[in-house]
Amino acid sequence: MKRTSALAAVAAFLWGLGASAQAREIRIGLITPLTGDVKTFGESVKNAFEMAVDEANKAGGVAGMKIAYVVVDDRNDPTEASNAANLLINRHRVKAIIGSVTSKATIPVSDLAQSFRIPAVTPTATNPKVTVADGKRKDYMFRACFIDPFQGRVMAKFARESLKTGSAAVLYDASNDYSKGIAEFFRDAFKSLGGEVAAFESYGKDDVDFSALLTKVKASNADVLFLPDYYNKVGLIAKQAREKGIKAKFIGPDGWDSPDLAKIAGEAVEGGYFSNHYSHEDTRPEVVTWVKKYKAKFGQTPDALGTLAYDATNLLFAAIRKANSDDPRKIREALASIKGFQGVTGKATMDKNGDMIKSAVIIRIEGGRQKFIKVVTP
Ligand code: PHE
Repeated sequence: MKRTSALAAVAAFLWGLGASAQAREIRIGLITPLTGDVKTFGESVKNAFEMAVDEANKAGGVAGMKIAYVVVDDRNDPTEASNAANLLINRHRVKAIIGSVTSKATIPVSDLAQSFRIPAVTPTATNPKVTVADGKRKDYMFRACFIDPFQGRVMAKFARESLKTGSAAVLYDASNDYSKGIAEFFRDAFKSLGGEVAAFESYGKDDVDFSALLTKVKASNADVLFLPDYYNKVGLIAKQAREKGIKAKFIGPDGWDSPDLAKIAGEAVEGGYFSNHYSHEDTRPEVVTWVKKYKAKFGQTPDALGTLAYDATNLLFAAIRKANSDDPRKIREALASIKGFQGVTGKATMDKNGDMIKSAVIIRIEGGRQKFIKVVTP
C-alpha cells in the first residue's frame, strides 16, 4: 500500500514536470482578413506569420517558450476586428497580438489592445490613427511599416518630379480611414510641390458605379488619377475610368498590392505606379532568401503584406526575447525600447509613436506584374 502511494507520488511528480514543461508556452493572436474584399492580404499575412512562428519554434522557441497561437478573421470589417480582439484577449488570454492588417480594422484593435494592456504590432496598417488618437499615443500599439503622411508625399513627389505631372485628380472612399487619410496627405503634398489638384471626390464603401465621379475626373483633364484604396475597388474604378475614355496615368498607394489587381482590372492598370513596402525584385540577400523560401512553401511570390507580417512577427519575438518574459507589460516595454530593426523589408527606425521610419519602393505594373522602379528614402 505504502509502495503504491510512493509510486503514485513519483508518477504525479513526473506528470507535474511534464505539465510544467508544457506550460512553458506563450500564446499570441493574429487578426487578419481571411475572407471579404481584401482576402489576398489576409492569406499572405497568415502564411508569413505562421512561417515566422514555425521557424522560432523549430529553433527552440522564444525566451524558452514555445509559441502557441490563435488566428481570427476580421473580414476587413471594424466591428469584426473588435470582436476578434476581444475574443483573443478575453477568451484566449493571448499575451500579444499581431494585427490587424488594414487601418480601418486596426484602429479598433489598437483601442482594445490599449485598454486591456496587451501589446499589439500591426504589420501593415499605415494610417496615423492606429498609434495616436487625438494627439495621445496608444503606447501598447506598434507597427512594422511606415505611415501615410510619408507615403502620400512619396507618391506626390513621384508624380510631380518623375512623371512630371502638373495636375492630379483624386477619388477616395470617405468611409475608410486609410483611403481618406492618404487622399488628403497626397493632395496636400502635391499642392505644396506646386501641383494643381483638379478634382478631389469621394465615394461610399458599397459603391460599384463610379460614372458620375469619373465624368468629373474626365472634365478636370488631370494628368494623373490617384486612387487610394484596396485592389478590389481600384480595379473596378480603373476599368470604368478607361471605359469612359480617361487617359490619365493611374497611381496609388500600397493598397494596390495584390495579384488580383491585374486580374480584376486587366489592361486598365497597365503602366500604373504605386508605392509599396518592398519589392521581390530587390537583390539584398535577405530578400532573395525570403522570396525563395516563401515560394518553396506556398508556390507564390511573397507580396509586401506577407513580408511585413514576417518582419512584424520577428519584431515581436525580438521583444519577447528582450523581455525574457510572457508578461504583456514587459513585452510592451521591450517593444518600445527597440530603436532599430533590420527586417526583410529593410532597415527601420522606431519613433516615439511606435511608427517605423523606413524606405518605400515604387512599383510599375507591366504585363500584369510588379516591376521595381526605385527606392525612396525618408
Ligand atoms: N496600408 C494599408 C492600410 O493601412 C494596408 C496595406 C499594406 C495594403 C500593405 C497593402 C499593402 O489599410
